[in-house]
Amino acid sequence: MKVLIVGSGGREHAIAASVAKSPKVEKMYCAPGNAGIAEFAECVAIGAMEFDKLVTFAKDTAIDLVIVGMDDPLVGGLVDEMEAAGIRTFGPRKNAAILEGSKAFSKDLMKKYNIPTAGYENFTDSDAAIAYLEHVKFPIVLKADGLALGKGVLICQNLEEAKAGVKEIMLDKKFGSAGNEMVIEEFMTGREVSVLSFVDGKTIKTMTSAQDHKRAGDGDTGLNTGGMGTFSPSPFYTKEVEEFCNKYIYQATVDAMAAEGREFKGIIFFGLMLTEDGPKVLEYNARFGDPEAQVVLPRMKNDLIEVAEACIDGTLDQIDLQFEDNAAVCVVLASEGYPVSYEKGFPIYGLEEFKKQDGYYCFHAGTKFDSGQIVTNGGRVLGVTAKGKDLKEARANAYAATEWVQFENKYMRNDIGKAIDEA
Ligand code: AMP
Ligand code: GLY
Repeated sequence: MKVLIVGSGGREHAIAASVAKSPKVEKMYCAPGNAGIAEFAECVAIGAMEFDKLVTFAKDTAIDLVIVGMDDPLVGGLVDEMEAAGIRTFGPRKNAAILEGSKAFSKDLMKKYNIPTAGYENFTDSDAAIAYLEHVKFPIVLKADGLALGKGVLICQNLEEAKAGVKEIMLDKKFGSAGNEMVIEEFMTGREVSVLSFVDGKTIKTMTSAQDHKRAGDGDTGLNTGGMGTFSPSPFYTKEVEEFCNKYIYQATVDAMAAEGREFKGIIFFGLMLTEDGPKVLEYNARFGDPEAQVVLPRMKNDLIEVAEACIDGTLDQIDLQFEDNAAVCVVLASEGYPVSYEKGFPIYGLEEFKKQDGYYCFHAGTKFDSGQIVTNGGRVLGVTAKGKDLKEARANAYAATEWVQFENKYMRNDIGKAIDEA
């Protein structure tokens, strides 16, 4: 079959590497893709939000299955448009992708169906938000309702900061129309865990757990980024935590969406916080995590195409989802200065090393070809992933592999997975 992947980051590279293992696939395309994905797929120069062009390409090329990796096209309704053109597509329709697309929606859903999450109020009016803030306990969390590249969350220590935050989100529209509505949420403390799952509308099967490192600097200092590294599984995601989430969070979310007439098919990513009062949902995403996919997919034993098709066909209950009994760590190699300002266009050396050994992967995030040479083309450049028998070994392997790759202004965190030493 012919498969089209929509997206261009490390997550899509991990998806492409997984799809490439399926005996069912004879040809893969990726729009727009990147220099690493080009090893597996023919990259086509169509942007992820160019729906008409994507649909025309899929029809003209007789694509059998589209996999949408990114949030924006999902929330914008690409799945609906593909389906209207008769093309099988893996991912939630627009009315279900709202689970990620609107934080106000997801908070109301959790409240209505008693799914554990932080206490909150939604606001469409900045004066009402400020009046509410006069009476809350600090710190407090402000969240722009819509998609904001993971940056629309502000943790405010006092009223002054919170007022400035309301202005930024709702009046100055720093995150654009994502700030037309805002959630004000109770501040929680605890370990964060990411649990990704496959969903077919009724049945949910969770994948192995992972943990992201969002801040730019060692010791969780510096600015928030798209993610500087991940490890999987999380030692903090114990059997008890899993049982609690099975009982109160996972199936409850799928059932809630179905009850609302928003049947969810695709990936639900549960961002969880393990609080003193038990696990609570921080956020939902409607897609694989980036860079969670880079540590979860290499450990998956199943054929990704088979699982994706089962989600579309409503037969996920017949899939025995299995993961290797090992661990993986992904260290992001970024451009110095990310996430603020950085130079790009530097040649990357050493990529061929990853082909020589099993259990090592170099997922491209921001790279491109320049006169036949692969060069840096973004803040996050590569995600170096290695497996090991346990997290310690995987971490040592991943950091050893970061040395194989060289480019000017290479920057990484040195403590990805360090928390596991405390587990
Ligand atoms: P989100 O995009 O909602 O996952 O938020 C981004 C990050 O902000 C999360 O990964 C947490 O580190 C932090 N965060 C979000 N909501 C809360 C909350 N209610 N309490 C504490 N931290 C939070
Ligand atoms: N790593 C967090 C995300 O993909 O949203």
